[in-house]
Amino acid sequence: MKPWLQLKIADLVGQRPAGSDHDVHFTESLVEDIVAEYSSPSDVVLDPFAGYGTTLVVAERMGRVAIGVEMLDSRAGFVRSRLANPAQVVTGDARRLKDLVQGPVDLCLTSPPYMTAVDHPQNPLNAYQTLDGDYGRYLDEMGDIFRQVADVLRPGGHVVINVANLATQAAITPLAWDMARTVSSHLTLRHEVFLCWDQQPAGISGDYCLVFQRPTE
Ligand SMILES: C[S@@+](CC[C@H](N)C(=O)[O-])C[C@H]1O[C@@H](n2cnc3c(N)ncnc32)[C@H](O)[C@@H]1O
Repeated sequence: MKPWLQLKIADLVGQRPAGSDHDVHFTESLVEDIVAEYSSPSDVVLDPFAGYGTTLVVAERMGRVAIGVEMLDSRAGFVRSRLANPAQVVTGDARRLKDLVQGPVDLCLTSPPYMTAVDHPQNPLNAYQTLDGDYGRYLDEMGDIFRQVADVLRPGGHVVINVANLATQAAITPLAWDMARTVSSHLTLRHEVFLCWDQQPAGISGDYCLVFQRPTE
């Protein structure tokens, strides 16, 4: 991948599926580029935070096997309704990934729920539905989720995480860099791709795709 990509907010808005809210972070064209670069036809593509299904819908369209996990049943159902082969999209908690997903997976491409380091009582890993948010625990849990992803990934397979540093009035949370450090305990960080938006999305500072690889054995 190039070390930077230029993206347009109009594409993000225009490519959002009808019925989704603003919790869609990928343009379909960005997903197409990543799926083409890091997988081949018939490969298995996993999204452990499936959201409205951008990764999985594009992956299936490109001839990959799409599998996913999504905590909110309404969203998981929405994703299933968009897929020709919906059976491998489950409603569940990515923290229990090893019970939900069977490998081998060739590519994991995802955009996890975000959290600022302060003033963020909503817990992202409970889909923001409980008020027990804690930044340190969130990072630990993210690390454990990607450890489980690493376990189902084939040797040489890639994990691409879209994650941003987050700007508030008070300070920037270096979430992308904290996530890079956390996930690097389990996978090799190979590339960082900076996403240059034509208009900066609200609350976002630096926006990245972090590319990790499971070492070949
Ligand atoms: C940023 S959205 C993903 C958007 C997706 N990439 C797209 O473009 O459609 C993150 C998703 O993770 C889900 N989520 C939050 N905690 C989760 C957990 N513990 N396990 C599985 N999914 C979770 C949220 O409900 C949300 O739909």
